[in-house]
Amino acid sequence: MIDNAVLRGIRQRRSIRNFTSDPVTDEQVEAILEAARWAPSGLNSQPWEFIVVRDPALRAGLGSILKRVTFAWGGMAAAPASIVVAVDQTRDPDHFVEDGAVAAQNMCLAAQSLGLGSAWAGVYAPRKTRNSVETAVSALVGLPPTCRVIAVVPVGVGRHSTTATRRSLAEMTHLDRYTARRQPDPEWSPEPPSDDAREFPMIVKSPSLTESGRIA
Ligand SMILES: Cc1cc2nc3c(=O)[nH]c(=O)nc-3n(C[C@H](O)[C@H](O)[C@H](O)COP(=O)(O)O)c2cc1C
Repeated sequence: MIDNAVLRGIRQRRSIRNFTSDPVTDEQVEAILEAARWAPSGLNSQPWEFIVVRDPALRAGLGSILKRVTFAWGGMAAAPASIVVAVDQTRDPDHFVEDGAVAAQNMCLAAQSLGLGSAWAGVYAPRKTRNSVETAVSALVGLPPTCRVIAVVPVGVGRHSTTATRRSLAEMTHLDRYTARRQPDPEWSPEPPSDDAREFPMIVKSPSLTESGRIA
């Protein structure tokens, strides 16, 4: 199979949900934001607003909000920087969610390429209300009402490495037309649904860090 640095980076990126206190430099954050800026967007609308949260009090505030969506909130709050990925929905009413998602993924891949860990806290609430986690994150960072929060991406030096599985390519690929398969791929055992109460315990593995503290 064809392989190169980009393809390896895509395969090797994992969600890292706990971080050392090692700093993330402004230069590293800038590189991550630059990768997000070059993401595609509907009609090149570029509806992004990225809020880099470094202030310890605000990071703690983010942690206590994320407590409502992920058991990993404590580890995520330990990240020296968290990026709130927001989009102004008036700039791309039809595709603002995808625009935000693809930028968030570019961030995670850029972090990986720099030897940093990152994760994704799913904050976007399709049926947003006053009580939604998304509303709380918006208020914390002072976003205007037209902006929606798609994700919070903590970034830092990972405290752990982890593994993840995927369904096989054969099971998810079709030639020309969808073909229903009677037998699921025997190689793939389903992970629990993305309910963090079940998800988080399985992501904690024994640390596997290089001497420099980077994720091996
Ligand atoms: C839309 C979306 C929402 C997610 N929300 C959370 C979350 O709230 N908490 C969390 O710990 N991980 C979250 N994740 C990360 C997934 O759990 C993770 O990508 C998945 O388990 C596969 O692991 P990997 O990223 O290491 O390959 C989210 C990922 C996506 C794309």
